[in-house]
Amino acid sequence: MDTEGRPVDDVLAELDAARGKDPDPHGAHLFGLTYPTGDRELERLTHAVHDRLLYSNALNPFRFPEQSRLAEEVVREVSGLVGLPSGGGGSTTSGGTESILMAVLVARQRARARGVARPVVVAPASAHPAYAKAAHFLDLDYRQAPLDPRSLTADLDALRGLVDERTALVVASAFSYPHGVLDDVAAVAAIAAESGAGCHVDACVGGMVLPFLPDPVRPWDFSVPGVTSMSVDLHKYGFVPKGCSVVLHRDGDWAGHQWFVYDQWPAGLYGSPAVAGAKSAAPVIAAWAVLQHLGRAGFEQMVASMLDTGGRIRAGFETCDGVVVNGAPVGTILSWRSERPDVSLYAVADLMEAKGWWLNRLTGTNGGEPGLHVMVSPAHAGVLDQLIPDFVDCYEEVVRTGASSDDAGRYA
Ligand SMILES: Cc1ncc(COP(=O)(O)O)c(C=O)c1O
Repeated sequence: MDTEGRPVDDVLAELDAARGKDPDPHGAHLFGLTYPTGDRELERLTHAVHDRLLYSNALNPFRFPEQSRLAEEVVREVSGLVGLPSGGGGSTTSGGTESILMAVLVARQRARARGVARPVVVAPASAHPAYAKAAHFLDLDYRQAPLDPRSLTADLDALRGLVDERTALVVASAFSYPHGVLDDVAAVAAIAAESGAGCHVDACVGGMVLPFLPDPVRPWDFSVPGVTSMSVDLHKYGFVPKGCSVVLHRDGDWAGHQWFVYDQWPAGLYGSPAVAGAKSAAPVIAAWAVLQHLGRAGFEQMVASMLDTGGRIRAGFETCDGVVVNGAPVGTILSWRSERPDVSLYAVADLMEAKGWWLNRLTGTNGGEPGLHVMVSPAHAGVLDQLIPDFVDCYEEVVRTGASSDDAGRYA
């Protein structure tokens, strides 16, 4: 910080120079972290909402009742998409990790209420690290079930073997981040129910995709008996800027365990349903606005377009000998392994990065094999003509040169 401060344009110029060195979040050259739509009208809307709510605070619903009503509408809309029965409850949060923290907290309290001293989370190895993080933060044990090597979904026998009377929560992904495959939610929920545990469906990625698929997939939502909670992120395939997810509970009373309420200090009653205190209302109100703007038809169109794009990427990449898709992905995440020992997909990814394409990398730790990964966004439709030939060129160069790479990249 300078003593005298700096003119606005000077500060912005430095920011722009710094941003110019990072990948462009709008450019459709990234395959995760950001979800560019290429839809200018939709972006105009999210910008306008953020402009209007730039200095908002979503902490106190009594001071801004209209803001809070719109946030409740987001929870209601998402509840409708995933079949939350009447009597259920939930809230918005700042993102998938916070939704998962809240689901694990509620499950821990449920387990404690039935006398479990040290509850356990059981999750397939494909579950997002947020479950291990929640167990770490909230002092639960964490047990990881292996994946079925072919489908890359949770190995149900192994999972059953890890669930016992200490289990607070069993996780199923709809669909999984590493391979985009849908766990057998009905079987996982039944295993959980047998020992009185909850079953959380991680629909952080799939929750705004699966309801809009043209063809049904196996049941994964609250229509499945034994599913007790779910997380759905709007800041992924709800196409809003970061800061919005929804966590839902089949039992509205237990959703109350999310709440922290305190009045033993001199400044009045404090209450909040998640981790953050003061926070911007903009991401959640942007979610409300995008739901209004796109409507069901808009989301169906976005999902249809992403499935088409994913299919084209898959067909294009798989013209390369030995590049094989993992499992049976159901939505917008695809991943590949190399069946040719002489072809390193990391080396292909290194060459792609030199051309400005940021493919994600799988390590294969505890499930599947090392390989490549993409999350498809609507804007990728506009770059296929460059992406696929570049991939094929890079692949051929690796075949020609025998280049190798041990750069497994990083998720975060
Ligand atoms: C399946 C799944 N669950 C949870 C999360 C965590 O979400 P967030 O990064 O919004 O905290 C992610 C993030 O990619 C995810 O893919």
